[in-house]
Amino acid sequence: MHILTDIFLKNYTIHFDNNWLALHYFLENRYFSQIIVVCDENTAKFCLPVLRKKTGLVLSVLIVISAGESAKNLQTCEQVWQQLLEKKIDRKSIVLLLGGGVVGDLGGFAAATWKRGVAFLQLPTTLLSMVDSSIGGKLGIDFAGVKNTIGVFQDPAAVFICPEFLATLPARELRSGFAEMIKHALISDENDWNLLKKQTKSLDLDWEIWIPRSLKVKQKIVEIDPFEQNIRKALNFGHTIGHAVESYFLETEKPLLHGEAIAIGMICESWISMKLGKISEKELTEITDFLIKIYNKIELPEVAFSTILETMRHDKKNAGGEIRFAFLEKIGQAGWDLAVSEADILASLRFYRSIF
Ligand SMILES: NC(=O)c1ccc[n+]([C@@H]2O[C@H](COP(=O)([O-])OP(=O)(O)OC[C@H]3O[C@@H](n4cnc5c(N)ncnc54)[C@H](O)[C@@H]3O)[C@@H](O)[C@H]2O)c1
Ligand SMILES: [Zn+2]
Repeated sequence: MHILTDIFLKNYTIHFDNNWLALHYFLENRYFSQIIVVCDENTAKFCLPVLRKKTGLVLSVLIVISAGESAKNLQTCEQVWQQLLEKKIDRKSIVLLLGGGVVGDLGGFAAATWKRGVAFLQLPTTLLSMVDSSIGGKLGIDFAGVKNTIGVFQDPAAVFICPEFLATLPARELRSGFAEMIKHALISDENDWNLLKKQTKSLDLDWEIWIPRSLKVKQKIVEIDPFEQNIRKALNFGHTIGHAVESYFLETEKPLLHGEAIAIGMICESWISMKLGKISEKELTEITDFLIKIYNKIELPEVAFSTILETMRHDKKNAGGEIRFAFLEKIGQAGWDLAVSEADILASLRFYRSIF
């Protein structure tokens, strides 16, 4: 039996300990005028019954959005606002975001902008949202084919993490979330990396131990730098190229999951770290071998490179016209704000293509 402890941040708590009961009391004791649940088609089917059973929840309004990244857009957001309007949701209500990063980002954005902000809870149901997207307060939607273009920073009233939800999550989705755990280890903990790299595709980890362990990496960073002025940029490792790769595949017949795209991004950005004299070739090989073992190699056509580069030029994290990167100083330690030439970015994509 593991002892799970809650994590207290400055503005809210991440509940692990006895979380069903804690959630029950949270909702019971605060006299919300209405309780709204936002979920997607899958979490409505798999997670809502669990939530109802475990907490005795009586909800006032249920909003179900389509599943997947392609729904993380303005149109879906409008549908949520429309229902908040029809049900006359006021600012004394609470919105429960029951789902993965898409429900959390989009539903959170809809809530944070509704009447200048109605409180919301993050109830993450994917590994990715448990270790990453449900904390840190970044909310938003994709726009014009570019990821997370419109959004706000707003903390949830609380986060409740219930690893039981993972029981119904498809294996591919679990692996996608694992990419963020790998990232957390690579940027901040060599010891965790050495343990995680022993994993195979089937991912045999004790989630009750590993979720809080991985989450703490992000929590410590966002507490120091909530608005991404400095150290929070390290969390973008793998994401500058990864987001552009994800956007590219979103327009194709075979979209990648977020973590799968980030795995490609981490390989390319590790290559850049090596090229610019940070990590060794041996470390690069270690990272590349492991990521390919878990995620396979994805066919990234050379004709896609210009589109990927163009998306990166639009990235909101750029400053002064330069594309800036988080990078690895070594395994377990990251830096940020490294300006990288377009020639090196292209060479890193070519490196990915050359792996076999
Ligand atoms: N806000 C942040 O800081 C942040 C950080 C990382 C990623 N993100 C965003 O998160 C998104 C990806 O999140 P995700 O990977 O959770 O994807 P997702 O929300 O699309 O969920 C993945 C799939 O699993 C299904 N699902 C969810 N929980 C389930 C369960 N318990 N059982 C069965 N099916 C379930 C969903 O319906 C969906 O089809 C991306 O849009 C990414 O940009 C945001
Ligand atoms: Zn991510």
